[in-house]
Amino acid sequence: MRNLIQTADLTVGEIDEILKTAEDIIRQPGAYADRCRGMKLATLFFEPSTRTRLSFEAAMYELGGQVLGFSSATASSTVKGESVPDTIRVVSCYADIVAMRHPQAGAPMIALTKSLVPIINAGDGGHYHPTQTLTDLLTIHREKGRLDHLTVGFCGDLKYGRTVHSLLEALRRYEGNKFVLICPESLNLPAYVMEELEEHEYVCCSSLEEAMPMLDILYMTRVQKERFKSEADYDAVKDLYILDPDRMKLGKKDLCVLHPLPRVNEISVAVDDDPRACYFKQVENGKYVRMALILFLLARRRENDSRRFAKEDLIYHKVCTKENCITSSTQEVQHIFKKVGKNRCRCIYCEAEQPLFEQ
Ligand code: CP
Repeated sequence: MRNLIQTADLTVGEIDEILKTAEDIIRQPGAYADRCRGMKLATLFFEPSTRTRLSFEAAMYELGGQVLGFSSATASSTVKGESVPDTIRVVSCYADIVAMRHPQAGAPMIALTKSLVPIINAGDGGHYHPTQTLTDLLTIHREKGRLDHLTVGFCGDLKYGRTVHSLLEALRRYEGNKFVLICPESLNLPAYVMEELEEHEYVCCSSLEEAMPMLDILYMTRVQKERFKSEADYDAVKDLYILDPDRMKLGKKDLCVLHPLPRVNEISVAVDDDPRACYFKQVENGKYVRMALILFLLARRRENDSRRFAKEDLIYHKVCTKENCITSSTQEVQHIFKKVGKNRCRCIYCEAEQPLFEQ
């Protein structure tokens, strides 16, 4: 059974296939109207959402299927203490495929241990958001006609911005892409994402004005208030980058401005009418690409999951202590780390790093 937990679960060929299907759905939606007749999608949202949940639901309805689920943890038996693995085991008796969002990193990965049906990660904490990536890639492809040889600027909260982590994972696999990381030091990419970039061309830049003229794509992000430990830490960085009409004047004529949304104030409303502002087109593309993804995963229910950890790299004697890791709230879970490099290892759920050997 195939699942989508992170962008790396898909090969570049499979990403291209999903985007091609999405573009065909846009051309001839009627041809797909009955493709999921008699099937059910469960949307399990333990964390708030507007776009992702509603676009998944719209996608399943447009494929002729039906939808069940909940839109907050408080509307489920989570409040009675039910764990994610138990919830998933139960829901997979009722649905053919599950899209889930959870505030803790690794929740969809732990769901795999008990699920009888494909799992789609619709966002796990500040970790990954692979279906937003498919949405972003479809938008870039429709706007630029390609996914390679682009200079892409990521601006704002690169530390907690899960959409950034997933999109970088995809774009770095297309030839000739270059990256400009526009953020304060305190909001830089986490180590597990930064490491993936090491063999690629990238520059760090603290000024949006300086970066603007270089970019083919500007990916703006919201500072993720809900993931900060203190209000003061959030206040210190919340207004650092604001895209307004004056800054847009510094960009290329064919610049494409993306934002996963929701926005707070990082893009001025006055930018919305600029033809280079593509973030509401992104929203629409999200439905088509999720239709394509549902079809892709349902067609591969009998294939093996492409997620593979080499057995010899797995470590079972360490305990993850990161509070935002799903292991912190799941009973009797097996903590598992994978070796990275010679002397380090990472939790397979949240990627928290520990030395391999204690000093
Ligand atoms: N882009 C995105 O994930 O939006 P929602 O939080 O509204 O789903």
